Parts: sequence; C-alpha cells; structure tokens
Amino acid sequence: MAEVVKSSLGPKGMDKMLVDSFGDVTITNDGATMLKEMDIQHPAAKMMVEVSKTQDDEVGDGTTSVVILTGELLGKAVELMGKKIHPTVVIDGYRDAMEQALKVLEEIALHVDPKDKEALKKVAVTAMASKMVSGYSGYLSDLAVDAVLQIAEETDDGIEVDLDMVKIEKKPGGSITDTSLIRGLIIDKEAVHSDMPKLVVDARIGLLNSAMEIEKTEFSAKIQIESPEEMQAYLDQEEMMLREMVEKVKAAGINVLFCQKGIDDMVQHFLAREGILAVRRLKKSDMEALAKATGAKVVTTVDEISGEDVGYAAKVDERKIGDDKLIFVEGCKNPKAVSVLLRGGTDRIVDEADRSLHDALCVIRDVVQEPKIVAGGGAPEIEVARRLRRYAEGTAGRERLAVQAFAEAIEVIPLTLAENAGMDPIDTLSELQSRHEKGEIWVGVNALEGEVSDMAELDVYEPLQVKAQALKSATEASTLLLKIDDIIAATKMSMPAGPPGGGMGGMGGMGGMPGGMPPM
Ligand SMILES: Nc1ncnc2c1ncn2[C@@H]1O[C@H](COP(=O)(O)OP(=O)(O)OP(=O)(O)O)[C@@H](O)[C@H]1O
Ligand SMILES: [Mg+2]
Repeated sequence: MAEVVKSSLGPKGMDKMLVDSFGDVTITNDGATMLKEMDIQHPAAKMMVEVSKTQDDEVGDGTTSVVILTGELLGKAVELMGKKIHPTVVIDGYRDAMEQALKVLEEIALHVDPKDKEALKKVAVTAMASKMVSGYSGYLSDLAVDAVLQIAEETDDGIEVDLDMVKIEKKPGGSITDTSLIRGLIIDKEAVHSDMPKLVVDARIGLLNSAMEIEKTEFSAKIQIESPEEMQAYLDQEEMMLREMVEKVKAAGINVLFCQKGIDDMVQHFLAREGILAVRRLKKSDMEALAKATGAKVVTTVDEISGEDVGYAAKVDERKIGDDKLIFVEGCKNPKAVSVLLRGGTDRIVDEADRSLHDALCVIRDVVQEPKIVAGGGAPEIEVARRLRRYAEGTAGRERLAVQAFAEAIEVIPLTLAENAGMDPIDTLSELQSRHEKGEIWVGVNALEGEVSDMAELDVYEPLQVKAQALKSATEASTLLLKIDDIIAATKMSMPAGPPGGGMGGMGGMGGMPGGMPPM
C-alpha cells in the first residue's frame, strides 16, 4: 500500500484515479481519500487505512507521508527480524527512537505568532502545493487564513479553532478564483415564492421545524359535504387557519422564515404579500447552523412562535450562482460563523478543491493552536535522522540497530520526494546529508526545481504537529503490527467478502484456531 501512494507524495507527485464498481470516478492526491476509497481486504492493510484516517482527523495533512513511513518502518523491521532480532527489541528501539525524534523536532521547530497571516499563508500554500489546485494556492490560502482567524477563539489554554464552524458550500461552475468567503451562512435553497423580497436588511429570523400546512389525518377519513355553502365554509375555514399561521409569524416580527418542512401554497402567497422571505425543506444541519449563527431558537409549532425565539442577521438575500439560487445570511449575531462558496470548472475539480481546502484549513488550525513550524521538503526528516544516528551510538545492544533502522526509515520522505521530482534519490540523499552535517538544517528537496535547496528560504513550511503526529502514528501502527505473529479467524467478526483467508497470504495463514471454537 505504501508503494501505491508513494508516487503521489509532494508537489511533483501524481494523482490517482479511483474507479468504483459503478464506474464512478474520483481523482485525488489526498492520501486519506485514496485509502478510504480503496477496496481493501487484508486485515493488516486495513490498519494502514486507519493510520491515515487518524492523521487526517488529528492534523488534517500528511496522510500520504504517514502511510509511506509506516510501510518503511515495517520493511526495515522485517530486515532486522531476518537478522534474528526479536520483534520486541525492534519495538522498543522504535519507541525509543520516536521519543528522541519528537524531541529533535521540538528543538529545531521555529516559533511563530499565531496571528501572523504571512506565516499561516506559507503553511497553507505548502499543504496545497501537491494538489491539483496548486495553481490557485495563493488565492485559496488567503481565504483559508481569513476563515480560520475569523473563527479562532481565545480561551484560557490558548487559541481554539473549531473547523466545524467553517461551512463549505460547493457549486460547480465559474472558476476557482470565483470562490468567496462569506461572513455568515449559505443555504442551498431558494425563496418559496417569486414575489418574496430578494433582499432583507435587518433580518429578524424565525426557525420552524414543523410544516406550515393543514395537518392531514393519519388514517383515511371522509367528510361528507351536502351543499355548496358547506363546501365554501369548509374552504374558508381552511384558509382562515392558514392565514392565522401567517399572522403568528408576522406578530413575532419575523421577516425571514426558515422552515424545515413544507409550506402550503396558500401560505406562501400570504407570506409573500406580507413581504416575508420564506425558505422551506431545510436540512437539519442547516437549521442547527442557523440557530447557532443567528441566535434564533428552533420552534416546533407555529403556535409557539414568539418574539423571543427570533434571531438576527444584518442581511439575508437570495443570489443566483450559476444555475441555482442560494440564500446568503450575512452579518449574523454570532460573527464566528463563516462559509466558503467553492466554485470550479467541474464537479471533480470542486471536489478536489474541497479536499485541498480542507488540508489548508487544517494546517492553519494546527499552527494557530500550536504555533510551531518546520520547513518542508524532507529537511526535518534528514535532520532528525542525522541526530538519531548520533543518538544511536550511545545506545547499547541490539536496540541500537532498531534506532538506526528508524533513522533510515524516515529518510524515505526526502527520498520519495526526490524520486517523484525526477532526481537521483541516492545522490540527492548524500548531498542532503552532507549539507546537514555542515549545519544547514533546513536544506531539503526543492522538488519544483529538481535541486537541493534551503526550504526555509523558499518559504516551504509545515506545522510541527503534522510531522510529530506522522511519526507517532506510524510508530504506533508499525509496532502494533510487529507484535502480531498470527492472524486468527474469530467468530462473529464480519468477514471480508471473498473466500476466507483470501488475501492473507504471507501472514502465516490462519493457524492456531483456539480450541472449542465452532467451525466457521
Ligand atoms: N515546494 C515544495 N518543494 C518540496 N517539497 C514540498 C514542497 N511543497 C510541499 N512539499 C513536501 O511534500 C510533502 C507533502 O506531500 P503531500 O501533500 O503530497 O502528502 P501528505 O501531506 O503526506 O499527504 P496529504 O496531503 O495527501 O494528506 C511534504 O513532505 C512537504 O514538505
Ligand atoms: Mg499534504
């Protein structure tokens, strides 16, 4: 698996086209996405998927690196085991090396101001350098930095960033530079009636999660009407009930109404006449976001609506974006709500832009929350490896070999970057090592130019957290796998499709079925 994702690492890495059984195609460079979409059977390989998922959840970037690293750590471990070194010795050595590596990273990391837009932008540009949308990385990075700083919240333990507050609304069409940051929310719906106002300033917002319709009986009922007058009276009564609903909305001072369910045609008409902008069939998540942003309370029936439940936004308007109309809610009571309207040529570009923007937002968050960065391009890996080798000289016994193997394994990152950039990996590595020996700690693989240069001078920076988390997850996953000596079929476990044991070749088969277990 590490081999599969290897070719996609770095700015010169290639993308993967994933085709599912229905023929649907996803094009991506994002490690976590590739692995998530891959059809994987081998239980050990599934661990790799989890590693990249953990990396994605924790720090958002470095999901390709972590898989390559895990693969390399396992490869080196197998070599050591071939030399009759017991797995537990390797495990101890790896853990020790990881602790040491984390210390080195802390030591060499540069401290930045968490509100320094320039520094944050550099990190975001690096995260997007390897993506399809890298041509627009400057534009998208500025936008992402603004978004994160807008939602950043200062607390007693530093700055907190909850990326759930950034809503991304994808609309294919236009180009990526049409992407915009909205200080508020975007609702992918339109006004229910064409006579409703297209713009409401000083919006008083009502949120309703029941239908504005006459309730139908659950069972089939029959009403017998005997004369035209009765018929008219019946219709009048219905109209009056609907009118009353609108009156209640109006009485609460609402001029923008979001309804989670349907709105009757007649009610739409009355609302339009009152100059109320109404939207129906909203997603529950949109209702919740609106409540949070505007301070409105979601009410369950029209009867309950009162002035107290009403929220506020400076402006609500309906705009035509491409072929669709969208509702923009801006200047909300809570300024921490922001949205990104993501545009781009086709569905696939928008999807990949979304994943790239996710990486950018995550790395900015990482730095805002822990303002330490390191240069990229494999420079920190070379430096860590160099110092680990020196550290290994001081360790005794066989563990030393494991620490050395660890150092060699993390050099896979610069090696792969060089390889993907069409450079000679061995020459590059030796040049990198010798320049690091001279104290140039930020010298790395300048993949774009195909040479070895100081990555700090090129402004290629990454969050310390991404590097540290990758080392931690890769060590954890590889040591976990090293401790396993057998795969045993367990009852009640959902078995992967295909013949039992298929794809488990090379792992010692399924020996050692515990006694007393019913046959599968
Ligand atoms: N301009 C550059 N020159 C050299 N190396 C770069 C440059 N920009 C980024 N890199 C390096 O590319 C690597 C990241 O590559 P990539 O983004 O493809 O993988 P990832 O971050 O591990 O995974 P993913 O982004 O898929 O979650 C990092 O080691 C980074 O330092
Ligand atoms: Mg990346």
